[in-house]
Amino acid sequence: MEDLFAEDLEALRARSLDRHLREISSAQGPEVEIAGRRFINFSSNDYLGLANDPQLREAATVAINEFGVGAGASRLISGNLSPHLRLESALAKWKGTEAALCFSSGYAAALGTIPALVGKSDVILIDKLCHASLIDGAKLSGAVLRVFPHNHLRKLESHLEWAQREYAGKRILVVTESVFSMDGDRAPLRELVELKKRFGALLTLDEAHAVGVIGPNGRGLAAAENLNDDVDVQMGTLSKALGANGGYICGSRTLIEWLINRARSFIYSTAPAPAIAAAALAAVDFLASPQGEERRLLLWERIRLMQGLLPRAGLNEEQSGARSAIFPWIVGDEEAALNLAAALQNGGFLVPAIRYPTVAKGAARLRITVTAAHEEPQIRALCETIERNVP
Ligand SMILES: Cc1ncc(COP(=O)(O)O)c(C=O)c1O
Repeated sequence: MEDLFAEDLEALRARSLDRHLREISSAQGPEVEIAGRRFINFSSNDYLGLANDPQLREAATVAINEFGVGAGASRLISGNLSPHLRLESALAKWKGTEAALCFSSGYAAALGTIPALVGKSDVILIDKLCHASLIDGAKLSGAVLRVFPHNHLRKLESHLEWAQREYAGKRILVVTESVFSMDGDRAPLRELVELKKRFGALLTLDEAHAVGVIGPNGRGLAAAENLNDDVDVQMGTLSKALGANGGYICGSRTLIEWLINRARSFIYSTAPAPAIAAAALAAVDFLASPQGEERRLLLWERIRLMQGLLPRAGLNEEQSGARSAIFPWIVGDEEAALNLAAALQNGGFLVPAIRYPTVAKGAARLRITVTAAHEEPQIRALCETIERNVP
């Protein structure tokens, strides 16, 4: 057994696909400490710099003092604490939906929700670049699964025609993201909504990398495009721009009641820590405030600066034109991507390489993320170092 895994690990190493944990010995922020050295961090999803924000820390501390550390039980038993309910009602108000439900992570939200929406002999049509959590949720549902090429509306349309013909009367669920996690581009939401309506399908939209970044008060792409009422299931995470931890689903009251009854990752898991729910609530309140909107606009200043300064060579123009806080620097070869990441680390920047299976084989990249907490000189320094290190 041992040998078997050793061989498998060796095979990964030989293809430059092995992964290792690095210890970060400081709080999240534009700078982090590794082995006693400070690095400028261009790899986190803490887009608004809230992960170590005093207001979130204070909210968590107050909740710890009142509710302790653990939730003690699942929500349906005795773990349904006031911070969870306050968070859900704030989330629903902020997102403009009837109701919301929190999960212990975005991954758990996807894994619980998709199989609650569709089952065997229903159909899921999912974008090729969707996040692993959505793919895993789709597989777990047992529904017939068809993948459409990234943002390819014509192909989706033909899949919808096929599904309507072959699975008449069954549910058809279209699954996509508003901002794609490894490419930073956006879904053509208006056209997707038009298609899903025409075919009577349901639409699940993962707003993980859009909330806090896009739309009025960071409410995401559906809100930005005024399509809130047309997206059946709005999924997101509290772990990225909101600086806390956990996932959520926003939608109709009936949808949320159904998930409370059927989403297994919600039912069979201890409720999220109350302090984390309280911190997420502070983040939602902040985003909904004028100060939150100011922070979001500051993030966009930083995004535009990065867009202007990054050398064009590694950027896929079509995919990276400042549509989000994510800049994929495509290298291709896995080993070359590791080497570039190492060169940047030598220069004092943390931008780990992203490789298969997170992205396709031969599509390795540096996933550069910019946050509102970065200072201009830090962004300039990164871009200069990249310029020096690319052939
Ligand atoms: C698009 C997308 N959806 C869902 C998730 C999962 O969210 P969480 O980190 O809260 O589990 C991620 C996290 O990387 C993501 O990028």
